[in-house]
Amino acid sequence: MSLLSATPDTRYADSLRLSVAPMMDWTDRHCRVFHRLLAPGARLYTEMVHANAVIHGDRERLIGFNPVEQPLALQLGGSDPAALAQAARIAADWGYDEVNLNCGCPSDRVQAGRFGACLMREPELVADCVAAMVAAVDIPITVKCRLGVDEDKDYEVFAGFVDRQAQAGAAMVVVHARNAWLKGLSPKENREIPPLRYEWAYQLKRERPQLPVVINGGIATVEAAQQHMQHLDGVMLGRAAYHDPYVLHALDCAQTGQPLRGREELLLALRPYVEAQLDAGLALKHITRHLLGLFHGQPGGRGFRQVLSEGAHLPGADWTLLEQALQVTRRQAARVA
Ligand SMILES: Cc1cc2nc3c(=O)[nH]c(=O)nc-3n(C[C@H](O)[C@H](O)[C@H](O)COP(=O)(O)O)c2cc1C
Repeated sequence: MSLLSATPDTRYADSLRLSVAPMMDWTDRHCRVFHRLLAPGARLYTEMVHANAVIHGDRERLIGFNPVEQPLALQLGGSDPAALAQAARIAADWGYDEVNLNCGCPSDRVQAGRFGACLMREPELVADCVAAMVAAVDIPITVKCRLGVDEDKDYEVFAGFVDRQAQAGAAMVVVHARNAWLKGLSPKENREIPPLRYEWAYQLKRERPQLPVVINGGIATVEAAQQHMQHLDGVMLGRAAYHDPYVLHALDCAQTGQPLRGREELLLALRPYVEAQLDAGLALKHITRHLLGLFHGQPGGRGFRQVLSEGAHLPGADWTLLEQALQVTRRQAARVA
């Protein structure tokens, strides 16, 4: 794949099978270009952007993207139907393939703004938001949610929430298969402590075969992803995709039948993108911070990470740092072999 010559997107429907989760501060545009290289068939998501920021903010900075990132969804935060509809229209005009509404973020700031996971308690308001966005654009509107909030443990409440959004026109639901605890846990703890219950997502799909359902939460291996695929339409990987990005490549190849490429080959394929960005004035560290995990769990992986971490912020850092990192990785690996 040439990173700099994007083709028109005809792959959106197939990309349902594998996606990379929206992650604030992580899945920025440079990260997404890297993930696209690793997983040509995957659907990528932006970080969450509030609808008002899309409407009033610096759009190039907040929602600008490179066409190679497609199929690409913009994740919106918010709970005002008119603002969300306006933001969705802007997203469609910018060429996004999908708009996803965040109903899963538990942070205090987000709760105070009445969006994110607390919206699971307001299915009618969410349905108004979904319906307003569906009416405003031709691209699919989707929802990412949890199983419930706090002590919710009634499957019918969860299924009722999803049904209401499907009725309002949501084309697909991503289920992060655990509750969000709105009090007492940090967002990080809220990704770890509430137990995963995949069975609810399986049941949702069994009962509603026509509704596309993607599962998210704790999926870290090709084997686990393939197990979920027996029950659901797709898997969404978050932290594993970021910390061990080669798993994305392995999963994409397993799903498409394409041969695996080596880590080093993949990194070298990023060179034209990195050099174009450096020429445009970007500092290398903004790209390399997303690459640190490429050799995760491999002999030499620590050296790779160390060379990049120590060198990328120095003035004038350029592609040669990545070549150095590869050399150190190879040397360390040879010592182990
Ligand atoms: C650093 C970070 C930022 C996140 N930001 C968002 C976000 O903007 N929107 C969202 O819906 N979920 C966000 N999440 C949650 C992930 O999308 C995902 O649901 C969660 O990490 C569980 O999936 P995983 O176990 O595969 O990581 C974030 C997660 C992390 C680790």
